[in-house]
Amino acid sequence: MANSTNSTIKLSSEHQFSHELAALKAADHFPKPYRWELSPQAVLVYILGGSLAGNVQISPKYLGNKNLVEVAIASLLSDRALLFTGIPGTAKTWLSEHLAAAISGSSKMLIQGTAGSTEEQLRYGWNYAELIANGPSQKALVPSPVMKAMELGSIVRVEELSRMPSEVQDALITILSEKTIAIPELNSEVLATEGFNLIATSNDKDKGVYEMSAALRRRFNIVVLPLPKNLEEELNIVVYRVKQLAKPIGLSFEELKKQQLEKLIHIFRELRSGVSVDGKQKIKMVNSNLSPAEAISIVHQARIEAFYFENNKLQTKALAQGLINSVGINKNDEIVALQDYNETVLKKRSEFKDWYTAFKEILY
Ligand SMILES: Nc1ncnc2c1ncn2[C@@H]1O[C@H](COP(=O)(O)OP(=O)(O)OP(=O)(O)O)[C@@H](O)[C@H]1O
Ligand SMILES: [Mg+2]
Repeated sequence: MANSTNSTIKLSSEHQFSHELAALKAADHFPKPYRWELSPQAVLVYILGGSLAGNVQISPKYLGNKNLVEVAIASLLSDRALLFTGIPGTAKTWLSEHLAAAISGSSKMLIQGTAGSTEEQLRYGWNYAELIANGPSQKALVPSPVMKAMELGSIVRVEELSRMPSEVQDALITILSEKTIAIPELNSEVLATEGFNLIATSNDKDKGVYEMSAALRRRFNIVVLPLPKNLEEELNIVVYRVKQLAKPIGLSFEELKKQQLEKLIHIFRELRSGVSVDGKQKIKMVNSNLSPAEAISIVHQARIEAFYFENNKLQTKALAQGLINSVGINKNDEIVALQDYNETVLKKRSEFKDWYTAFKEILY
């Protein structure tokens, strides 16, 4: 398998932040749970940023509620697994990747849930050439990432759990409650080593695609990742992540103007919540997913566009176009709601004149 290099598009968390993880490890004098690379206290600092023992400065990965991250870390030490849920784009995958990197030193033990997921992907499969030639044997067995994590005592991630068919999801019940995978063909079993646990993610919008059984739910501590509670918090997340995304590209982008982005987030929050930011006016809601992740992508893309084609000046029109694309240009109801918002809300606000004009030019 190829190794990550400086030109790899997406480095794993443990690779990208290896210097921070190493510094934390060196400064970490708290007791470490069995097979954990860091103590729970150091994992918390890795996720939220700050310093450990006063001498290592760590960049924040997740901007949000401290308590929620503490609950997540503690869950991984309990006999239950951890499930992040919440609307799309609230950093469920991001947080689970960083937790796995900090705790086990690797975020790569991963299963992506899809409608086509099978039980073998959670348990084990076979190398069929070997199986047919020599019958079932340890050599013919292909362990799943879950099985490997059980043997190693590490964290395994299951992405988009509720996209897996329910009967496949249920294979996790025995794994999580008995901490074992039986291999009847070899008359053996794999027992989980201390340190093994599982982080699953599942977004609210996929709820009901394949509802989780009550039995499986009980095996999880469920942590809901919320939307940022106010405009300032959301703006911080967007600015912070957009700057981070720009670093590896190596282009000298224009400085981000907070005031310009503030308006984008302002519009996001109003369309998402159905009420104006000052709480005084009702607004027709847009159902599309206008999450912090969506805002980050819009700004990042608009910046690249501006760099090459607009003299490095971020244009409101490019941001407005990004927002319209997120809403879905072919979704009639949503576009009507956006036009309605433009005419009844933005038109009256002189400070949003550029946005009003941009929407008008693109939409009508
Ligand atoms: N509170 C936050 N702190 C830091 N980054 C955030 C926050 N909220 C969102 N992000 C950023 O949003 C982006 C997308 O997050 P991620 O892919 O983890 O979302 P998700 O919740 O898994 O969405 P989905 O349900 O669509 O899979 C990441 O770049 C992440 O850094
Ligand atoms: Mg995700």
